[in-house]
Parts: sequence; structure tokens; C-alpha cells
Amino acid sequence: MLDLPYSQACENNKAPILALLKQAFANRSKVLEIGSGTGQHALHFAENLPHLYWQASDQPLYLVPLAERIRRAALPNLPMPLILDIGNNAAPAEPFDGIFTANTLHIMPWPLVKQFFNRLSEFTQTNATLCIYGPFNYNGQFSSASNQVFNASLKSRDTATGIRDIEQVQALALQQGFSLLQDYAMPANNRLLWFTSNR
Ligand SMILES: C[S@@+](CC[C@H](N)C(=O)[O-])C[C@H]1O[C@@H](n2cnc3c(N)ncnc32)[C@H](O)[C@@H]1O
Repeated sequence: MLDLPYSQACENNKAPILALLKQAFANRSKVLEIGSGTGQHALHFAENLPHLYWQASDQPLYLVPLAERIRRAALPNLPMPLILDIGNNAAPAEPFDGIFTANTLHIMPWPLVKQFFNRLSEFTQTNATLCIYGPFNYNGQFSSASNQVFNASLKSRDTATGIRDIEQVQALALQQGFSLLQDYAMPANNRLLWFTSNR
């Protein structure tokens, strides 16, 4: 049997994220998760938010173990994951009223971050909700020493990656009609950004 990848960070952050998604996605019905990774978040959120249809997705490289975790879970509201590389793949046929992504914007090079936001209208119906979890800077400043160390380790592997400025992310979101409703402090110096669309 395939050994499934495991993220301790996901185990640590899934409960605090869920507590906020309960509110942010309370009146949503179909959420697209972009960059699902191991699928631990998808499983936890689908299990604990049964009113939602939770569509996981990721780049082709991640799909086999992600699909296997989801297959084993056999949850009625957690369909098999979609292949979705923001830079390469067409949007799913049906639009979603919620988008979730965790720990992806600092991994995507900046042109892909822009594409992520530019493509939101392809993924969503009107008045959608967008929740983004991860580390962010404020006015170019690290919000903690540990984030600064993390950023240096990202850059040492790939200079195109790095912790993004919340102001720049907010500007990209606004161009697509998504306004920041809440910016929650999360454990381990992360944030949960809750945007709503007025388009
Ligand atoms: C650090 S992992 C985070 C995985 C998971 N969301 C979590 O919080 O544990 C970064 C994720 O971003 C995804 N990602 C990076 N570039 C992407 C792209 N161009 N399109 C879609 N996903 C991308 C990766 O495939 C990976 O799943």
C-alpha cells in the first residue's frame, strides 16, 4: 500500500483554520482548494464542514498520493482531486462559491501569484469567498524572526519564491473585485486572509 505523505504543520494548523472556515464558509456550498498538497487539510475540512462540497486540486506531481488519501477517506463531499496548475490547466467546468489555498503564494513565483488572482473569475461565481492561509509580510517587513529565517531558506532553494507582502496581495485581489474582510492572526506567525467578492 502506498505510504501517504504527511505534514506535521497541517496537523498543527488544521484545527485553528477550521475554526475560522466554519464562519467564512458558513453559507458556501462548493469550495475549490488550490494546491492541496498532502490532502490532510481537504480531509479535515470536508469531514468537519459536511455542508460543503470540497474539491481538492494540485499540480500533476502531487496528484497520486493526494488522490489515494482522498480515495481512502471515501467522504461523500470530497470528490477525487483535479489536476490544476495555475500556470497550465483550464479551470474546472463548474464555478465555485468558495476558494481556499494554504501555503501556496510563497511557493508560486510572483507571475504565478498574479495569475492566481487574475484567474479567480474563471473559478468562481458571483459573490464568492476566498480564504488564503500562510505567512505574510506587512509593508515589506517580516512579522517575526522565524518568518525571516523561513524566507531565507525558501530563497536559498529558489529565488523566485518568498513570503509575499499583504499589501501587494490585497491589491491583486481588489483588481479582481475581492476585498479583504478579515485578516486573522494564526499560530506560528501565519495569517488567514478572508476576502469577499463584490463582482
Ligand atoms: C508548501 S505546499 C502546501 C500544501 C498544502 N496546501 C499545505 O498547506 O500543506 C505548496 C503547494 O503549492 C502548490 N503549487 C505550487 N505552484 C502551484 C501552481 N502553479 N498551481 C497550483 N498549485 C501550485 C504545490 O503543488 C503544493 O501543493
